[in-house]
Amino acid sequence: MKILVTGGAGFIGGNFVRLMLSEYADIEIINLDALTYAGNLESLSDLEGNPRHTFIRGDIASMEDVEKVFSGHAFDAVINFAAESHVDRSLHMGVSHFIETNIKGTQLLLDAARQHGVPRFVQISTDEVYGSLGPQGRFSESSPVAPNNPYAATKAGADFLVRAACRSHKLDAVITRCSNNYGPFQFPEKMIPLMISNILEDKPLPVYGDGMQVRDWIYVEDHCRAVDAVLRRGKTGEVYNIGGLYDVPNIEVVKLLLKLLEKPESLIRYVEDRPGHDRRYAMDAEKIQKELGWKPRVKFEEGIRKTIDWYLANREWLSHVRSGNYMAYYDRMYGKRKAAAG
Ligand code: NAD
Ligand code: TYD
Repeated sequence: MKILVTGGAGFIGGNFVRLMLSEYADIEIINLDALTYAGNLESLSDLEGNPRHTFIRGDIASMEDVEKVFSGHAFDAVINFAAESHVDRSLHMGVSHFIETNIKGTQLLLDAARQHGVPRFVQISTDEVYGSLGPQGRFSESSPVAPNNPYAATKAGADFLVRAACRSHKLDAVITRCSNNYGPFQFPEKMIPLMISNILEDKPLPVYGDGMQVRDWIYVEDHCRAVDAVLRRGKTGEVYNIGGLYDVPNIEVVKLLLKLLEKPESLIRYVEDRPGHDRRYAMDAEKIQKELGWKPRVKFEEGIRKTIDWYLANREWLSHVRSGNYMAYYDRMYGKRKAAAG
């Protein structure tokens, strides 16, 4: 089986590539990634020299790059992880890259998959397309798509394009919508690795608003196994929710990290909230469990311990990704952020 993985130098794509190569001896992966600030070849260094993995630097939003890759290979499937993926950047640093990659890039991949007769397209989407929940209920696949921030809006736009390619042109496509991932190789702009790396340096921990926003957390390997199940057994045209089935307020996660790293809660700083901050996400992932027999294997506390251990053992990786532009980003995002009211 030869698959095109896009965004495979990023957090989830990289974990997926590694998992697939280790689980299946007959899989060959072409990994297309633009190496934006979030893509890092250092995250793939253990795959160097692996004859079943080929890295190609290229932009999914460039027709030329996409065409070159598709005309050079006959793929059995395309799995589109490539995206601009951070909500705060979409709020504070402009939306144009999000539109280019998440919307235009997805459409170019859909067109190429159709023209080259690729038999399966998996679009990696997110629970954020559903918007925010009130105090009760969970997102199911039939929940309305109602994104509240520009990142989520571009992911929702991509989902609709995938749906349209499937309905209009009979492209065999499937969409996955997963909750918040954590685990090795996550860029420290997302909450869990940001908090871990700040704790390691005794830096303040910026908790948005009252810290009572709820997220469902899934260990990245569980997400990757779910994508594999959808790739192999998902029904054409369907959407599959994926979740860790562990939803808790942010502040509880931050306090657990402090406890496990034996640092005081005095590091917590409540800061000005994110605009349009979704209050609660929770997943109903019954469909993938019943239809495809997938369920998460890693409990939150176990996954968090593994994640902390990984960041402790990979301080060099962390210091490389936090050098240069990262500090400018951090200053811009947090430097002038006021303390939360009240
Ligand atoms: P990430 O930001 O860590 O990685 C994204 C990767 O895509 C990077 O390697 C980057 O270089 C690459 N990329 C960006 N623009 C590109 C372009 N134009 N062409 C080619 N490559 C490009 O993101 P992630 O957290 O690994 O997320 C992967 C996917 O999963 C995204 O589609 C995201 O929306 C989705 N998702 C993420 C989460 C999460 O919690 N992180 C949850 C649900 C869904
Ligand atoms: P994040 O990791 O950015 O994921 P998402 O926005 O996709 O859910 O944020 C997870 C939660 O943590 C979200 O409610 C925002 C909050 N958060 C903070 O409180 N402080 C931070 O510095 C960051 C990055 C996030």
